[in-house]
Amino acid sequence: MSATASVQQRVIVLGGTSEIALAIVSELQRRAPREVVLAARDRNGLQAAAEELRSQGCTRVSTIEFDALDIDSHVGLVDRAFAEHGGGEIVILAVGVLGQRGGLPADLADAVEVMQVNFVGAGSLLICAARRLRDGKGGTIIVLSSAAGARPRRANVVYGAAKAGLDFLARGLGDDLHDDGVRVLVVRPGFVHTRMTVGLEPAPMASTPQAVARDAVDALGTNRQVLWSPRGLRWPMLVIRALPRVILRRMRR
Ligand SMILES: NC(=O)c1ccc[n+]([C@@H]2O[C@H](COP(=O)([O-])OP(=O)(O)OC[C@H]3O[C@@H](n4cnc5c(N)ncnc54)[C@H](OP(=O)(O)O)[C@@H]3O)[C@@H](O)[C@H]2O)c1
Repeated sequence: MSATASVQQRVIVLGGTSEIALAIVSELQRRAPREVVLAARDRNGLQAAAEELRSQGCTRVSTIEFDALDIDSHVGLVDRAFAEHGGGEIVILAVGVLGQRGGLPADLADAVEVMQVNFVGAGSLLICAARRLRDGKGGTIIVLSSAAGARPRRANVVYGAAKAGLDFLARGLGDDLHDDGVRVLVVRPGFVHTRMTVGLEPAPMASTPQAVARDAVDALGTNRQVLWSPRGLRWPMLVIRALPRVILRRMRR
């Protein structure tokens, strides 16, 4: 067990029914006992996730219902999440929706919701959590960004744009809060087999929540600020980021 893991005991998950986030909590719990607060919309999903974590040995698990679209509730929600177990050392920000894929959206409302949840909502939650940690004893925020935000691609324009905004915000706050004892770890998974991607054709280097979780928890023991998962994804993404737009325009994925 690393020294970091032994003190970072209390975990708060915003997007507490996320398969990737729950795999990260399981991986954390596998390495040291944890107390966990799960926050999301789905009451039944939250209860089921809490039961599962208890069965894995989590010493305390609480749940809170909230909607990321209700921005006015965020300060109170984050305060409550920290109060539930008397504080928190690790926050996992997993709130996200995939929405319609492709380029120009056919459904404006869906596109707006994707931007509101993935950037405005998640960004607001990130700011609230960062403030709490800065004003307390510091800690770590794991932000689930996405490889989709690395470069605009026709396959996923709106989701990618929203994730790019969140990624940018998270890296900026990570730099700003570095000297305040707040670490922001930006995790950029590629395609992960979860309920979010059910029915979609897997992209190359497709992964599992457990694999992303191992990468993320391993990264907590380093001073890494940005993590691609799988780690090897950074190389094809480096190429994609360097490609001229004229080539990128021809790519459908
Ligand atoms: N799966 C992938 O291939 C992949 C790849 C890269 C990045 N990611 C990112 O990783 C994160 C987790 O994804 P996942 O694959 O684990 O999907 P998931 O199981 O569908 O998790 C999404 C989470 O977001 C929450 N959420 C969505 N809309 C919300 C809202 N309005 N208010 C509150 N919570 C809301 C969901 O909670 P509810 O119970 O309330 O619905 C759920 O906890 C997301 O940010 C996703 O964008 C996923």
